Amino acid sequence: MTRVRHLLRLGDLGREEVEALLERTFALKGYQRTDVPHASLPGRILGLLFEKPSTRTRVSFEAGIYQLGGHGMYLAPDQLQLGRGEPIADTAKVLSRMVDGLMVRTFGHDRIEELACHSHVPVINGLTDRCHPCQVLTDIFTWYERRGPIAGRTVAWIGDGNNMAHSWIAAAALLGFEVRLACPKGFEPDSPILAEAGDAARLVGDPREAAAGADLVTTDVWASMGQEADREARDGAFQAYRVDAELMALARGDALFMHCLPAHRGEEVTAEVLDGPQSVVWEEAENRLHTQKALLEMLLGSGEAGRG
Ligand code: CP
Ligand code: NVA
Repeated sequence: MTRVRHLLRLGDLGREEVEALLERTFALKGYQRTDVPHASLPGRILGLLFEKPSTRTRVSFEAGIYQLGGHGMYLAPDQLQLGRGEPIADTAKVLSRMVDGLMVRTFGHDRIEELACHSHVPVINGLTDRCHPCQVLTDIFTWYERRGPIAGRTVAWIGDGNNMAHSWIAAAALLGFEVRLACPKGFEPDSPILAEAGDAARLVGDPREAAAGADLVTTDVWASMGQEADREARDGAFQAYRVDAELMALARGDALFMHCLPAHRGEEVTAEVLDGPQSVVWEEAENRLHTQKALLEMLLGSGEAGRG
């Protein structure tokens, strides 16, 4: 049996692997759009464990595995013994004897690391408090489809230095572009993640400095899942970190706007920008499906990187 391959963070992939994933995503999107059969994972079972809510991640993985000829199994913690205190390590050992892959959305990144450590099958990070690699892979694909390679480009991140920001930072280092992040004081990305990216990631003081001349402007909610109790304090701190038409006007004329969704119109982004001509958010959401399928093929397929 080949070594089990997980995707817990973007750095688990090499640059060439990301490039291959982008190509495959492009092909799979074409097959799905034109009804070309592509059941490349017949009979494979994907467990989907969600400790937080989800629309896009759940539906893209669940629909994706079906379209590839496999089966998705939604696992809610309150319906598993995990919710009654069965250790995560034991849960991983049991589930991974029954399914071919596990997609996990949880809180602390240590939980998914522990799960992966005890899993005999690939574990895919569908969001933790630390990062959201599947979303940023999709965002890179969305860019690639519209504009080609992202290497050498400039991305402006406006707002919270959160899980999405961390994955953008990792992507910049991996793929050779620059991410300029404007975050309120006290809400910057984690220092070790920034340090690991070297010159690829740069913190700037002012959202206008981040947006100036950028190829892509992106943001996320001010309070992520699990931070709802801090909402009021966060609302106060983030008022100057809203993406509006004035900020977009500082970016390149052909700059794209992305948001992983769900979005709060009037908070981190105005409706004018989110629903405006530079926004590609609906395409970005659809692309979760195609990107996740390429990733499932890579990790659950019988090729070298799969389970074997
Ligand atoms: N962008 C994203 O991960 O959305 P969901 O929370 O709906 O899965
Ligand atoms: N940062 C957000 C992303 C949601 C897809 C959160 O963690 O809630």
